[in-house]
Amino acid sequence: RLTKRSKSEKDQPKRCTFRAQTETNVLTTASGAPISDKNASLSIGSRGPLLLQDVQLIEDLAHLGRERIPERVVHAKGGGAFGYFEVTDDITRYCAARLFESVGKRTNIAVRFSTTGGEAGSADSVRDPRGFAVKFYTEDGNFDLVANNTPIFFIRDPIFFPSLVHCAKRNPITHLPDSNAFWDFMSLRPESTHQIFILFGERGISDGFRFMNGYGGHTFKLVNDKGESVYCKFHLHTEQGIKWLEPDEATCIAGKAPDYAIEDLYEAIQDGNYPKWTMYIQVMTFEQAEKYPENPFDLTKVWPQKIFPLIKVGYFILNKNPKNYFTDVEQLAFSPAHLIPGILPSPDRMLIGRMFSYGDTQRYRLGKNYLQLPVNCPLQVKNYHRDGVMVHNNQGTGPNYYPNSVDGPEISKSIKKLHPPFNVAGDVNRFDSGSEDNFSQARILYQRVFNEEQKEKFIVNIAGSLHTVTSPLIQRRALDNIAKVDSSLEKRISDYLIKKKK
Ligand code: HEM
Repeated sequence: RLTKRSKSEKDQPKRCTFRAQTETNVLTTASGAPISDKNASLSIGSRGPLLLQDVQLIEDLAHLGRERIPERVVHAKGGGAFGYFEVTDDITRYCAARLFESVGKRTNIAVRFSTTGGEAGSADSVRDPRGFAVKFYTEDGNFDLVANNTPIFFIRDPIFFPSLVHCAKRNPITHLPDSNAFWDFMSLRPESTHQIFILFGERGISDGFRFMNGYGGHTFKLVNDKGESVYCKFHLHTEQGIKWLEPDEATCIAGKAPDYAIEDLYEAIQDGNYPKWTMYIQVMTFEQAEKYPENPFDLTKVWPQKIFPLIKVGYFILNKNPKNYFTDVEQLAFSPAHLIPGILPSPDRMLIGRMFSYGDTQRYRLGKNYLQLPVNCPLQVKNYHRDGVMVHNNQGTGPNYYPNSVDGPEISKSIKKLHPPFNVAGDVNRFDSGSEDNFSQARILYQRVFNEEQKEKFIVNIAGSLHTVTSPLIQRRALDNIAKVDSSLEKRISDYLIKKKK
């Protein structure tokens, strides 16, 4: 009877007639109430004080005051884009990850490029390794390849990472860059030598993001569908060709166009000039690893391609710009711990250190439920995590404990063989790896890879930095390390420094 009555026209509540029905795109408060005036605060008289009941003013000021979240502690400045990865070559004999399951298979990706040391507002054209992080949104979860544009790194034990970062950041007293601190740390940890040689080499200032390779760097473990494993490294080769900036050009760009790399990437994609990279892997069997004279898990060294050739896997292109920088790029959260069945960590201790650090910082930077943010959210998630700040998907009516007999998510039996057991044994101790071979690959790079012009550029670049070191002790220690790579090189740099002093 009630419904009958409400259907009758004359019983319908009267509509407001004073509200224009044509209004669209109306400004509202955060709680959705339309706003009628945004040109003045609510005051008592035209010169009088303001009222606390001005919700609009208070809400706007409060929201602005909370806009900044902590920037990434490293890699704070960067740009990102979206696209897809396509498999072109079969690697299922090594890896059963669904990402690589068939030729022609496409997977959506997000990529963020970055500089390493500078703050979010710093210039793009600096001498610094570039970050190259790729997120693959696969059916088996997100796989993040959190790579750099150099195949190796400064350190081989994560215990040094905080000091490595601090020595390259601003001095805590002066708030200025401090080359004494930089060279003090680098010279005391000579395992940094190989990375230093790459950094001060001709290619040390990448020309934007499109013209550089990416290297996973670490040794990963791939497992095939028989449960057999090999070690592996990932390589991403630019199809645009490698380009770099000369130091004077880079300095000029830093002043005139500090956002050069972000702009270049955005505009290329906007113009339909989609950048492309080819993915390769290098593979080392367990038998090869045992006989290999070097530590295959040492991130300061490359695996020679003559012994471990590149194997093509596929390519990816970036064809979509972010729609909103903050939600699509700033909130992106990559982690070396985001692996998928078929791709496992190796004993590479740097990789293992990183597997803790990223999620940890992201819980602080973005909040505990950061993986529910749209850009980070995997294609499907089912687990027993619940609640917390800004929870969005609280998994409905599912049980929040395991095991249970009420249809909660169960383990996958089919992927069990992709986690083959492995043996480890050894004394628990702290093993300082600083006196392992620190110089042989830097020597190969300088003596056999650099041509004479590249050698000369390297000398000018490194001397230009060592020249700013005011401590003779630190400068000497750095030169002594260089002498261990090549004594004639040390002499050339020393001569250059003397000339510069005059
Ligand atoms: C960013 C830690 C080594 C590549 C970061 C962040 C942390 C971190 C805390 C900020 C993450 C965030 O706020 O989202 C470490 C530690 C390392 C290490 C502890 C060594 C023990 C490396 C290496 C590479 C690398 C060896 C490359 C092979 C990157 C990249 C980013 C990053 C590309 C930026 C990711 C993005 O664009 O959001 N790192 N890192 N890091 N790191 Fe590392």
